[in-house]
Amino acid sequence: MRLTLKVWRQAGPRATGGFRTYDAPDVNPDMSFLEMLDVVNERLEAGGEAAIAFDHDCREGICGACSLMINGIPHGPRKATTTCQLHMRHFRDGQTITIEPFRARGFPVVRDLVVDRSAFDRIIQAGGFIGVATGNAPDANAIPIPKPDAERAMDAAQCIGCGACVAACPNASAMLFTAAKTVHLGLLPQGQPERWRRVLAMMERMDSEGFGGCTNFGECLAACPKEISLANIARLNADYLKATLVTREPAPS
Ligand code: SF4
Ligand code: FES
Repeated sequence: MRLTLKVWRQAGPRATGGFRTYDAPDVNPDMSFLEMLDVVNERLEAGGEAAIAFDHDCREGICGACSLMINGIPHGPRKATTTCQLHMRHFRDGQTITIEPFRARGFPVVRDLVVDRSAFDRIIQAGGFIGVATGNAPDANAIPIPKPDAERAMDAAQCIGCGACVAACPNASAMLFTAAKTVHLGLLPQGQPERWRRVLAMMERMDSEGFGGCTNFGECLAACPKEISLANIARLNADYLKATLVTREPAPS
């Protein structure tokens, strides 16, 4: 396949960025999108140009490190697929592909296609600890959990923290991510002791990191590679309301 790539290049956080156009003449349809960029980078470096910076780690859809807006869609055109699991056979020979970083106030550009998503780490950190008794492993079924709760908790726990939900949202809201991270603990017995304090602290941190509010566009779900349900946002809102009623102490900053 021969492709034309329009790639966002930006030397640093304060540098002015812009699109550069690259010819990619030797793309194998079985390459992943990131392998295609590896090949482009080899050519750039051989020609003395700086490689295109982009984030990646596991390359198997589980770590959340990869990102990229591909033709205006976070993680590209395939439903429920991370950028690292997207293959070039889903594009046409001769196609022009536009590649940009995730864009949101809470995700400042570091370089080229790499953005700083440490705001997500700080939201999780604000959630604090889980108060579980230590010691020997408990017997199986010692803590009964209704099957529907276990299923919903495990579904929410699939969030890989990639940030596509923020990039897709017109408000750059982080509600789907924050909901996934609070709800999976809020549904389980082990998550109850700190449940209300956790919700208040994570919501407060989410707001202070500059993410917008949820106004029910649903773009987050469309972009989410793990198909985290919008029902989690409803559960987070319910928990947040209850937390403001049952908690008198201010949330720790
Ligand atoms: S909710 Fe989905 S899109 Fe958002 S961070 Fe988690 S896995 Fe990524
Ligand atoms: S590189 Fe780990 S999910 Fe894509």
